[in-house]
Amino acid sequence: MISLQESPERRRLRRFALAAVLTNAGIVVTGGTVRITGSGLGCPTWPSCTDESFVPRADSEHAGWQMAIEYGNRLLTFVVLAAVVLLVWQLYRTRPHPKGLMRVAWMLPIGVIGQALVGGVVVLTGLSPYTVMTHFLLSMVLLFAAVAVHEIVRRAPRPDITSATVPSAVQHLTTAIVAVAFLVLIAGTITTGAGPHGGDASAPRLPLDIRMAALAHADMVWLLLGLTVALVVVTWRGPRHLAVAARALLVFELLQGAIGYTQYALGVPEALVVVHVLGAVLVWSAASAVWIRARPRLGLVSDGDEEHRSQGGQDPPDDASTSDPAAASPSRRTTHPPDDPTTEAAAPR
Ligand code: HEM
Repeated sequence: MISLQESPERRRLRRFALAAVLTNAGIVVTGGTVRITGSGLGCPTWPSCTDESFVPRADSEHAGWQMAIEYGNRLLTFVVLAAVVLLVWQLYRTRPHPKGLMRVAWMLPIGVIGQALVGGVVVLTGLSPYTVMTHFLLSMVLLFAAVAVHEIVRRAPRPDITSATVPSAVQHLTTAIVAVAFLVLIAGTITTGAGPHGGDASAPRLPLDIRMAALAHADMVWLLLGLTVALVVVTWRGPRHLAVAARALLVFELLQGAIGYTQYALGVPEALVVVHVLGAVLVWSAASAVWIRARPRLGLVSDGDEEHRSQGGQDPPDDASTSDPAAASPSRRTTHPPDDPTTEAAAPR
């Protein structure tokens, strides 16, 4: 439900936040395509494509299509950068926002530029699996930040969401889910590092048995599934937006698990590897959303509240200890500037 009174600027902010999520997720999947097509060294150097040329030029050593795939993925970085810069710019246009939200948003352009440099290290180390793992996992951190900004921006004018109560035990459960999901991602990248799809025939491989790595990875998935089932049960009658995200997470995990076992049984065929990367992005995005949604007031605390806290004031925990955020902290009612999201949340629709 989108508020009818939402301003065009706020609508644009939501769209830019969504674009930041989609572009950050998309480049992970296209990165997977670079890997399974063996195009990782299609441009064998960085930042130029070859020693002689900044852009791909057919030569005897590299196929033109592999050069195009690798170079195309490099160019996509600019699309991701444009999306996150637009998001930060739009956040400034719709100020004031809590400092925490601005800090997380700023992580995005800085992180994307950082990832462009890490991508260079990946190429210059000849696709060392350690650098490939780092590159993938950093993208997941950026995806978490993008999902967080999107969730917070989306719920700012939604009092039904921001006034929800979530017990601290449920919040801890979501923290465990995010932590285990990240371990699953790490184990997945280790499995890939030991597997046949290094991005180039010459790419070094981790000295591990891929079957052992895959089974350890799958064992962690079972733990993640157990925690998620518990979350689905305890949120069944809880706040709807959290229950929906928990159920979506469970569905993504089940589908992803089925894909994982299928690709394991079939000897990791290329097409399934890309689908598995897409599944990883969906599972991680849902886990990130679950964590944010279990904290309905996170990111809506105004800067005034931060000053209040630094002067020794008490701020209530973002859990079930109070059912009315405004009543819980008098400063929340009195220190909001007119365009503050919390103020919007209190406005009748
Ligand atoms: C929630 C469920 C799962 C998630 C989030 C997940 C995530 C991942 C990730 C992030 C990677 C690395 C992708 C890359 O480096 O590009 C990966 C690789 C892999 N996963 Fe999973 N996975 C899940 C379930 C499973 C299961 C149940 C299996 C069954 C054994 C499995 C088997 C594999 C295999 C064999 C690879 C290596 C593929 C390759 O060589 O590229 N996964 N997974």
